[in-house]
Amino acid sequence: MTHRVAVIGGDGIGPEVIAVALDLIKAVGVDLDTTDYDLGGERYMRDGTVLPDELLEELRTYDAILLGAVGSPGVPPGVIERGLLLKIRFEMDQFINLRPFVTDDHNIVVIRENTEGMYAGEGGFLRKGTPNEIATQGSVNTRMGVERCVRFAFDLANRRFRKHLTLVHKTNVLSFSGDLWQRAFNEVATDFPKVETAYNHVDAACIYFVEDPGRYDVVVTDNLFGDILTDLAGAVSGGIGRAASANLNPARTSPSLFEPVHGSAPDIAGQGLANPVAAVISAAMMLDFLGETDAATRIRSAVDAASAVAGFDSGDTATIASAIRAKL
Ligand code: IPM
Ligand code: MN
Repeated sequence: MTHRVAVIGGDGIGPEVIAVALDLIKAVGVDLDTTDYDLGGERYMRDGTVLPDELLEELRTYDAILLGAVGSPGVPPGVIERGLLLKIRFEMDQFINLRPFVTDDHNIVVIRENTEGMYAGEGGFLRKGTPNEIATQGSVNTRMGVERCVRFAFDLANRRFRKHLTLVHKTNVLSFSGDLWQRAFNEVATDFPKVETAYNHVDAACIYFVEDPGRYDVVVTDNLFGDILTDLAGAVSGGIGRAASANLNPARTSPSLFEPVHGSAPDIAGQGLANPVAAVISAAMMLDFLGETDAATRIRSAVDAASAVAGFDSGDTATIASAIRAKL
């Protein structure tokens, strides 16, 4: 079966790491019908295009979207983030941001709510630019949005070996949103009697991720906490060069988007120095979601086998790519 995939290589190292991922997918014999979309910071600088609605509708027709990284120096903050990445996440209702962190010592999946919270864009300015200026930025938490995220996390934990789920929030201070999250979590828990549960405040979780990550199996948290915690998790799991993510629409009413957690790294772009592992694992997650589970497992196993060889991560893009290919 052929899968139609929209590819947004994006800026900086994005196209370099996506090329490696696509090459490995081809090598394991999965038939992808890919279409490249020239989007991101460079495109915006050239002609002002971010993501027009017609293009969004066109992207909706694909089975999946594979994205490298977007963002260029010189583009004002928020233009690409809000106009492209968050627009796709929100408009395509990709309400789960799934980020796995696997080392020899821990195997954690962070489930980050992906369409609400501080990212919803609630708020505004009053008297902007004057000495009496006010800016507000609210956190939007709907019962439906929280519950579907928490339920996804419980369902995932229930299918894993340890069957353990930790809610991370800040219920001691965020007494409205935290309360809603905690109640939704407790209520959904009654549907999953085999899943053992825990709760950590987000600041404490930052300590545990560094000092005792082995305590975690599945972690569920809100959008902004999840953003911050997954950079930390990447840093203690072999570096951000290995951190992969899936922006999932589990109901499959629109395509899901797969992307490395890292950015476009303009400082090393074009030099063949980018670590492609995060993009490769993101691509394997895409294959899983498309039902190509054998191919996904082959790619992941090849990354594991190549990683076990000393010096793997110190290589350049091409060296790492061929080390993985050799283990397929
Ligand atoms: C991420 C990124 C994005 C986010 C930015 C680029 C909008 O940091 O995917 O983690 O904050 O979600
Ligand atoms: Mn982030």
